[in-house]
Amino acid sequence: MDRIRIVGGTKLNGTIPISGAKNAALPLMIASLLTPETLVLENVPRLSDVRMLKRILGNHGVDVMVAGKRIGERDEDGETVKLNAATIVDTTAPYELVSQMRASFWVIAPLLARMGEAKVSLPGGCAIGTRPVDLLLMALEKLGAEIEIEGGYVLARAGNGLKGGEIDFPKVTVGGTHTALMAAVLAQGTSVIRNAAREPEVGDLARCLVKMGARISGIDSSTLEVEGVGSLHGAHHRVLPDRIEAGTYAFAAAMAGGDVTLTDVQPILLQSALDRLAESGATVTSETNSIRIRRNGNGIAPVSLETEAFPGFPTDLQAQFMALMTKANGTARITETIFENRFMHVQELARFGAKIRLDGDTAIVEGTPVLKGAPVMATDLRASVSLVIAALAAEGETMINRVYHLDRGFEQLEAKLQHCGAQVERIRA
Ligand code: EPU
Repeated sequence: MDRIRIVGGTKLNGTIPISGAKNAALPLMIASLLTPETLVLENVPRLSDVRMLKRILGNHGVDVMVAGKRIGERDEDGETVKLNAATIVDTTAPYELVSQMRASFWVIAPLLARMGEAKVSLPGGCAIGTRPVDLLLMALEKLGAEIEIEGGYVLARAGNGLKGGEIDFPKVTVGGTHTALMAAVLAQGTSVIRNAAREPEVGDLARCLVKMGARISGIDSSTLEVEGVGSLHGAHHRVLPDRIEAGTYAFAAAMAGGDVTLTDVQPILLQSALDRLAESGATVTSETNSIRIRRNGNGIAPVSLETEAFPGFPTDLQAQFMALMTKANGTARITETIFENRFMHVQELARFGAKIRLDGDTAIVEGTPVLKGAPVMATDLRASVSLVIAALAAEGETMINRVYHLDRGFEQLEAKLQHCGAQVERIRA
């Protein structure tokens, strides 16, 4: 397994281009199952989760083609991926594939909507909590699906097609909203989705579905109305920028100090994170498509926060912000409200000398002036990158093991940091 070696203590100076969002690309790729025509997605990040999903979709019969590079295209531009599901050859998503990536469970919605049946393995737990799918199944049932669970698989049927219905989510769920949308677009009649997730990646999926011929109103709000159509057609869509990747590098720049500009971003998508960063003492300046982060000399002020659904502070940036707070001049309280067990990074951050105590869903982080490099282990995707951030500001050398977690969600992490002067290298297995 590859490892990443970081020698900390260098300020970051330079520009980092932000990739397309993993969490938008995945549902967009899955939406290709809804139409026999070609869906072309631009700015798809080169990540192992994307590669895995290509395999999963291939198993259902989707032809996946990656366009070659054109003259004038920049290295940092993501892939252009053409997906064609003219024929769906298999409506089963097996355990071996779904267990490797939770989001692949979402194929249940387009398979059911287009083919009237789907058999999808339950995804199971993961490092950040139990993560059930009850609300996704509830949404499908509201649209007329019959659901059974047998031998670890969800069997979903809608012999006469799905019917429009009312879906009231008791809690905000991104995957639930993606599922409800992809099912409702081909259902007969009108569906209403209440307490829908307003995460930008949901809006991105909805906009792409509209380009494919879907009728959706209320996009970006918590009530979505969907008027079902008989079929969808091909479309061309550019994946929106990764707000979590952007927030991660913004925190890294504040932690290590220096002057970094993030390009190809939409600052509005991570405003709550940028506001907290500014409170911590960094200078944050946003333009339409770029964000500049500076911290020179002044210390890091402690900032307490709670994770929340969009537009609140995202759970996917909690670990990274905690890393920043380990060097604050005081104590910060960080409360995780979305996932019950997303604190795997706490014991790894402690290896750098961070002082963090857990009290239920809250981490109490007592800032310390000096972190020291250490051997650490990546656990889940966002936890892993919090270790990178800590390592950049720690004295001496850090070796991060199990970096395949990072490769799931951060495109060219080492190169992007190296361009800003960081001493980072991958040691291939
Ligand atoms: N939940 C249920 N029942 C359900 C579905 C969700 O109780 O049927 C609960 C979850 O256990 C959790 C909460 O609802 O406590 C929110 O979960 P949500 O469904 O919103 O999460 P998700 O769709 O599984 C996506 C992202 C996550 C991100 C969350 C929250 C993708 C591929 N994943 O997960 O991203 O943390 O939304 O914003 O989009 C990551 O990228 O590292 C990651 C984990």
